[in-house]
Amino acid sequence: MAAEPVSDNIVRADGHISGADRAANFGHGSATVWFTGLSGSGKSTLAFAVEQRLIELGRATYVLDGDNVRFGLNSDLGFSPEDRTENIRRIGHVCRLFQDAGLIALTAFISPYAADRAAVRDVHPAGRFIEVFVDTPIEICEARDVKGLYAKARAGEIPEFSGISAPYEAPVDPELTIDTTKPLEACVDEIVAYLDRLSS
Ligand code: ADX
Repeated sequence: MAAEPVSDNIVRADGHISGADRAANFGHGSATVWFTGLSGSGKSTLAFAVEQRLIELGRATYVLDGDNVRFGLNSDLGFSPEDRTENIRRIGHVCRLFQDAGLIALTAFISPYAADRAAVRDVHPAGRFIEVFVDTPIEICEARDVKGLYAKARAGEIPEFSGISAPYEAPVDPELTIDTTKPLEACVDEIVAYLDRLSS
């Protein structure tokens, strides 16, 4: 994950408030919950459901969703390997900023490359990046085909489609693996319980 500015004439500015101060203000620690899985696996559904639960619990949280972010910040990026890497790199740094802001960031990106996810982990403090594998087999994602994209990909209308004509590297050692055949509320319970075990 490129860390050095292009210009030499950049100096970091420090404010008066630390991450610990912000955490104390919110009453909970910050973290990035990084959902990864195929298109249609249920990442966004899970992230939005966890967000709703966390808000009910009074926690400060926000969802960064793949499709949504591609309307704005990352509207210049497509689905080549290079563009996907840049997509995840930028979001990783947004999450790092959220981390410093004391928030619980929830992200829903396919993020198909293990190296890109590892690079995002690396910009987080230890223990604050929680990789959640949304482990829905491609057969189920394709049968659901909520957005009709699998049918288009099979027809050759979408090149480089994850799981069909582009790779998806499943996490080898994620913090959590979610079986989306379980009820949504049970999946949410599992993720919130994990967050509750993190110190603030
Ligand atoms: S990522 O690979 O760079 O992490 P991201 O999560 O931002 O992908 O965007 C994935 C979403 O874009 C999918 O859920 C789907 O709606 C849409 N999409 C459009 N084209 C593709 C494609 N070629 N491969 C995967 N998803 C695509």
